[in-house]
Amino acid sequence: MTDLRFQTLTTEWAPACRRLELSIFEHANPDELIAEDDFRAYARVFPEGFFLCLDGDQLVGQAGGIFLDFDFDHPQHTIVEITGENQCGNHDPDGDWYYGTDIAVSPDYRRQGIGRKFYELRKDLAIRHNKRGIIAGGHMPDFVNHKADMSAADYVDRVASGELYDATLTFQLENGFAIRGVLENYIEDEATDGWSALIVWDNPEHST
Ligand SMILES: CC(C)(COP(=O)(O)OP(=O)(O)OC[C@H]1O[C@@H](n2cnc3c(N)ncnc32)[C@H](O)[C@@H]1OP(=O)(O)O)[C@@H](O)C(=O)NCCC(=O)NCCS
Repeated sequence: MTDLRFQTLTTEWAPACRRLELSIFEHANPDELIAEDDFRAYARVFPEGFFLCLDGDQLVGQAGGIFLDFDFDHPQHTIVEITGENQCGNHDPDGDWYYGTDIAVSPDYRRQGIGRKFYELRKDLAIRHNKRGIIAGGHMPDFVNHKADMSAADYVDRVASGELYDATLTFQLENGFAIRGVLENYIEDEATDGWSALIVWDNPEHST
């Protein structure tokens, strides 16, 4: 971790962010992933909410999101619906929650604590702005190995209980998130058949 730098998104990083996005979410529909123009929009609309990890002049990780209100009585949503135009058009500075739209670390740099650092930066942001917490549609890459045998809801229950390991969902649980259900057709993805977990971190310092 010593040579790595963290900073917020600026427009010149948009092409590198898109390349990283495509390389990481290789089973997803590229049209539903964040595009170069979308990254530029994030850099204009809410740069404070989008973090990059750099090794020298190389982008090795990114984590972004927007502030919004969320209705837990009607939690089903797709990534496209929740983010709006340019995947950040629904950013509302007064929204109650930070919604994580993207987190990705280059495979060569995984398991060194970069993901955890991104979550620390996001939590710090949520605390500084007195948000209720963080929400995301959690990707579950290892569901592909179990989807023939069980439903997405069963799968997340078993990951939550520790019976099964998921490279992303287990990491999110270990970072203080709770699973609040599953999201159907969240993103077009051949491996997960579009399923994601609705994950939530409650800000313990939030005051009304
Ligand atoms: C999920 C993801 C962002 C995690 O990034 P990461 O930088 O590897 O995260 P961390 O290094 O903080 O933690 C990952 C694991 O490495 C472990 N780890 C961290 N530092 C370590 C170290 N120095 N030595 C050994 N293990 C370590 C952590 O305990 C964690 O273990 P777990 O899987 O049992 O929870 C990354 O795997 C990724 O990009 N996945 C693909 C994209 C994706 O699914 N994104 C989520 C969309 S919702």
